[in-house]
Amino acid sequence: MKTILTGDRPTGKLHLGHYVGSLRERVRLQNSGEFDKIFIMIADAQALTDNADNPEKVRENVLNVALDYLAVGLDPTKSTLFIQSQVAELFELTAYYLNVVTVSRLERNPTVKNEIAMRGFETSIPAGFLCYPVSQAADITAFDANIVPVGEDQIPMLEQTREIVRKINEIYGEVLVEPDILLPQNQVCRRLPGIDGKAKMSKSLGNCIYLSDDSATVAAKIKEMYTDPLHIKVSDPGHVEGNVVFTYLDAFCNDKETVAEMKEHYQRGGLGDVKVKKFLQEVLEEVLTPIRKRRAEYESQPDEVLKILKDGTTAAREKAAEVLARLKGAMKINYFG
Ligand code: TRP
Repeated sequence: MKTILTGDRPTGKLHLGHYVGSLRERVRLQNSGEFDKIFIMIADAQALTDNADNPEKVRENVLNVALDYLAVGLDPTKSTLFIQSQVAELFELTAYYLNVVTVSRLERNPTVKNEIAMRGFETSIPAGFLCYPVSQAADITAFDANIVPVGEDQIPMLEQTREIVRKINEIYGEVLVEPDILLPQNQVCRRLPGIDGKAKMSKSLGNCIYLSDDSATVAAKIKEMYTDPLHIKVSDPGHVEGNVVFTYLDAFCNDKETVAEMKEHYQRGGLGDVKVKKFLQEVLEEVLTPIRKRRAEYESQPDEVLKILKDGTTAAREKAAEVLARLKGAMKINYFG
């Protein structure tokens, strides 16, 4: 069996970084026909680990993320889309996994460490937040997933999941499937910079182009995009490294030959930013137009979207219950048969 599980926290609308870093690849995997089962989870419970005081934000974004999923081409007849908090089995699994994880190991998780620093938690770290990598191990193992397509910031989560799986299997016998991470092959897709040239496109940095942005918004964002500060006159030789417009062309344009020619021309001098930006705009419009169209279709039928999530969640629960029963059996805590 080849089973995929992956997902996102619903803390905002999804952007181009999500698209090249994971969504585009998910759709490709879905349509490859190579997988027996694909589970895509909206991780609302994980989002609540550092948003306990803001449940409205999480709730609103569950729908936003669902619309983004459907808009990029995730197809509910091929992929099971579901909501984490409604699969109670995940929390039971988490409770048992917590017993094989040390607090110091949790404190060493580099992604969590970095998030704690960024959020300024210092000594007031929510316990649920510190433990979310364990709940993520539950998310993955509950579906017997062996392939987890995610961005590189999730490498430590997968490492920790694999440790938990090995520990559980060592104690209770071979009950859990050990997953492999699947990273985007293309280096630029692993971490798309923001329009300001900062290392990462991120909502908190305010440097995103969203999948739901309309043409005019995208055009305005491209206009202010960071290029080469040393490229002042059109005739000046320019730099393409660190030039966001070229980075995005690498990530989004399928016509590699044209991009290579433009890079060469830009470096030689004589190619203006306005022209390159105009080309990028065309490329992005080609990517975003079908996404916007599908988004609008689903936006006009919210009941249908809810039904997709409900059916997906029912199916997800069924699978998670099976795995939980298997673990409880192995742990000898299946008293009533
Ligand atoms: N941590 C992921 C994110 O930040 C979301 C997530 C939760 C996830 N559980 C998962 C991803 C399991 C892959 C597998 O978006």
